[in-house]
Amino acid sequence: MNFSSDNVTGVAPEIMAAIAAANVGTAAAYGDDATSERLTRRFSELFEREVAVFPVATGTAANALALATLTPPWGVVYGHRDAHFQVDECGAPELYTGGAKLRPLDGAHGKITAADLDAAVTGRGVVHHAQPAAVSLTQSTEAGTVYQAAEIEAIAEVCRRHKLALHVDGSRFANAVAALNRSPADLTWRAGVEALSFGELSVFLSSFLDSFESLSLLSLLPPSGDADVCVFLA
Ligand SMILES: Cc1ncc(COP(=O)(O)O)c(C=O)c1O
Repeated sequence: MNFSSDNVTGVAPEIMAAIAAANVGTAAAYGDDATSERLTRRFSELFEREVAVFPVATGTAANALALATLTPPWGVVYGHRDAHFQVDECGAPELYTGGAKLRPLDGAHGKITAADLDAAVTGRGVVHHAQPAAVSLTQSTEAGTVYQAAEIEAIAEVCRRHKLALHVDGSRFANAVAALNRSPADLTWRAGVEALSFGELSVFLSSFLDSFESLSLLSLLPPSGDADVCVFLA
């Protein structure tokens, strides 16, 4: 057993078999194929609402692209100081957001609190300051802890008050779902989360489709139609 990272082991044989099966024959490009449609359908079932799914190459790409849809280049993204996007992504979030400021927050056991976030959000409307734009939580955290649905709801309330988008880095989301015995929907959009990255996939929730479509990079992706949730998947 090696628990250092999911990147150190190969994938399950079932995954290799599914990839091999998907590689047979011809298919429309750029997401307009049956496999992508099935993926979207499965995620919509999983999240109990319509989603749009966007496969990307890595978890870092999922985070960077997710955050790039949620903040302008002059925005501030708040998150725990140990979060992967703060310390382990080689500046990719800064690059893809066009230079947004990542503001690290302290917090016991890898978690930020609603009260600490509330106190940290300053400078709205101050012409000299980067503008508060988004929050990123990690579920499960770098410390192996999880955010309860009520804790996410409290943070989402602060986000609504300060007009901040709420993103979750869900590289270990499945562990949190299992540990908390709550549905993916309960731990995301029902609690106020607007975007979710998986290890190699991101989910976007309704209100950000507009900004999402306005980004030139992302406008290359297939149109999301009336989807309430967009998913990036690597
Ligand atoms: C919490 C978290 N987010 C994002 C990533 C990035 O994933 P990748 O290594 O696929 O870029 C990792 C990788 O370990 C991670 O632990």
